[in-house]
Amino acid sequence: MRNKVIAGNWKMNHSPIDTRNFFGKFNDLVKENNHEIILCVPYIDVAAALESTENTNIKIGTQNLNHEVAGALTGDVSVKMLEDIGIKYSVIGHSERRQYHNETDDFVNLKIKAAFDHDIVPILCVGETLYERELGIAKEKIIIQIRKDLEGLPANFARKIIIAYEPIWAIGTGKTASKEDANEACKLIREEIRKMYGNDVAEEVRVLYGGSVKPTNAQELFGMSDIDGGLVGGASLEPDSFAQIANFDKFSMNIGEMI
Ligand code: PGA
Repeated sequence: MRNKVIAGNWKMNHSPIDTRNFFGKFNDLVKENNHEIILCVPYIDVAAALESTENTNIKIGTQNLNHEVAGALTGDVSVKMLEDIGIKYSVIGHSERRQYHNETDDFVNLKIKAAFDHDIVPILCVGETLYERELGIAKEKIIIQIRKDLEGLPANFARKIIIAYEPIWAIGTGKTASKEDANEACKLIREEIRKMYGNDVAEEVRVLYGGSVKPTNAQELFGMSDIDGGLVGGASLEPDSFAQIANFDKFSMNIGEMI
């Protein structure tokens, strides 16, 4: 049974003070939670986030990394620097970085390998644009991204990767893929992993859905056979809404108890 992953992506939001306030409330709301809860925060918030979540069940990740260990790369943060301060997760290949920072699949592939070499689990994002979906080539796009992004990655690393299927038309738009469509895409990703790495790895890899996940749709999405949790943007910014998403299964129990 795969443990669910509930990951937040704050993008370019929240200062270190906001970060301390967030965890000041959030930690208590999820202290009984057994899922893998990860908050991917801006670099400037990492220190405050690590400090605020010490001795809790909450993990801190980043939203990007540079695959080089050090060098003349103004403004970048290296994989080694993140390893040294105890970061264990990073989003890699988010569509916003692919779109606004021209990150290619080759570059994403380098980052994934570097992350594993430095004991950081990548949360790899893949997904199609609305144009590609309307053209009927969404599946091909996803398969090409998986093949290129994981090229040459050994199975012992591949089994630990977290992959987020994020249809670009659903990110920050309030439009969510239907639970059936989201599940079908997550299944497609798992089948591709099966072809590349075999059954054991495919059954171990966690595949998340991302794109306008909210407290009101988390339960139906995360209840699907191939969706192992979510990557949450906007709804991860407030402790209450992100806790409701992380506690999606407890919520149903409470309703059940009330009836
Ligand atoms: P959203 O973002 O939940 O605000 O749609 C998801 C993401 O970009 O990871």
